[in-house]
Amino acid sequence: PENVGIVALDIYLPNTYVDQVELEEFDGASKGKYTIGLGQTKMGFSSDREDIQSICLNAVQRLIDKTKIGYDRIGHLQVGTETIIDKSKSVKTCLMQLFEESGNHDVEGLDTTNACYGGTAALFNAISWIESSAWDGRYALVVAGDIAVYASGSARPTGGCGAVAMLIGPNAPLVFDRGLRGSFFSHAYDFYKPDLKSEFPVVDGKLSIQCYLQALDNCYRIYCNKFEAQAKKAGKKEKVTVDTFDAFCFHAPYCKLVQKSFARLYYNDLLHVPVDDIPSKFSGLENFRSMKPEETYFNRELEQAFMGLSKEDYEKKIKPSLHVSTNNGNMYTASLYGCLVSLLTSQTSKELAGQRVALFSYGSGLASTFYSLTIRGGEILDKLVSSLNNVRPEMEARVKVSPTDFAATLQLREDNCHKAPYVPAGNLEYLRPGTWYLKSIDDMYRRTYDRI
Ligand code: ACO
Repeated sequence: PENVGIVALDIYLPNTYVDQVELEEFDGASKGKYTIGLGQTKMGFSSDREDIQSICLNAVQRLIDKTKIGYDRIGHLQVGTETIIDKSKSVKTCLMQLFEESGNHDVEGLDTTNACYGGTAALFNAISWIESSAWDGRYALVVAGDIAVYASGSARPTGGCGAVAMLIGPNAPLVFDRGLRGSFFSHAYDFYKPDLKSEFPVVDGKLSIQCYLQALDNCYRIYCNKFEAQAKKAGKKEKVTVDTFDAFCFHAPYCKLVQKSFARLYYNDLLHVPVDDIPSKFSGLENFRSMKPEETYFNRELEQAFMGLSKEDYEKKIKPSLHVSTNNGNMYTASLYGCLVSLLTSQTSKELAGQRVALFSYGSGLASTFYSLTIRGGEILDKLVSSLNNVRPEMEARVKVSPTDFAATLQLREDNCHKAPYVPAGNLEYLRPGTWYLKSIDDMYRRTYDRI
């Protein structure tokens, strides 16, 4: 199959958020810490009326309602999530309820888990299915979704919630560049969830930042090498730099880290440009070439220098992809794909056509990949872009909840996590019409869902 990629996609975000300025004050944090220091404006969250299954049900329902593609035309369904409510039964099997009416049960694929990387692993599995001998000509559906909640403390403002559903197939408007993936996997305890009774992770914040930057350095280098080797095979001499790409989507734990990471690509470029190019592009920064990259993750001077150098491009090439992250927070597996949705809702399809987009996926523990896609113009792109017209207005219309009520809601979730039987107490009025929600959990832990 040719031009395998994302044919359509949609995002589901909770209808409630907390304002980060108000949260700073409520938490007694210094003014500007969450908004300027972390780069976050609003944080989406849900009550006990929503769990990972209802959130994924909503993402799929929205996508299928919009595209009007029959459930019988989907032959593969993968879910990427790290929000675990059952150690055996997958979220995917719960989503099969949506397929019931179509009579289609011939749907391969299950859940994949490793922190924020599960969505990318699910996506790669779906691409593999389409490119394999098992492919039967139908679409694959990938859902990346999470409820990102942290114990109260310094990590709490970096939470978020949501899911992205993506329809994968040939002749797509967003085409994955073949053979161009740079991956880096390693063993680290930077963020993990060893307490199966709790929704909260154990986090080593500083280590997680170091791991993220280390993963980026490695993935980018491998990607560049593969790109350059591919070009060489085609008889072209090409050097990959930040200029190779029109836009970037990065996994966004909080937006400031993305800005720093983008700057880090310039540092990587400095390390790999031919000596002759140094004076023009990196004038005054030559000294940073002699440092060991693994000793520079928290080097302020280096960070400031490259943030300065990349400032203009940051506004142009990264900022458009950060709308959802800034205003909803980290959605773990869905974060990167929320960035893609943001990018696609920031410009017209005419402007987007022809752009090469770099994507960096990071999941603690750790798993990471830098890869790319190319946007193909035409009617299918117009359709995809216009199908996302409601995303930003809907975000604007969300209900703002006070930090006190936000903290109480998180407490309610914490107190009742994994309880059975249980009837959720969260306010149904906050949900948008048509939203799937958790109705109840019976004494055998069986969950039932309904729609508003
Ligand atoms: N005005 C402006 N900036 C401020 C202010 C202020 N009043 N106060 C602090 N800042 C800045 C700090 O200087 C710091 O900037 P820097 O990153 O350039 O050093 C930034 O705000 C954050 O402040 P810290 O004191 O470093 O924050 P803290 O240690 O309390 O927590 C952290 C930050 C570690 C990111 C925490 O929120 C966390 O653990 N989050 C979850 C883990 C995470 O997201 N990791 C990223 C990769 S892994 C993943 O995706 C889950």
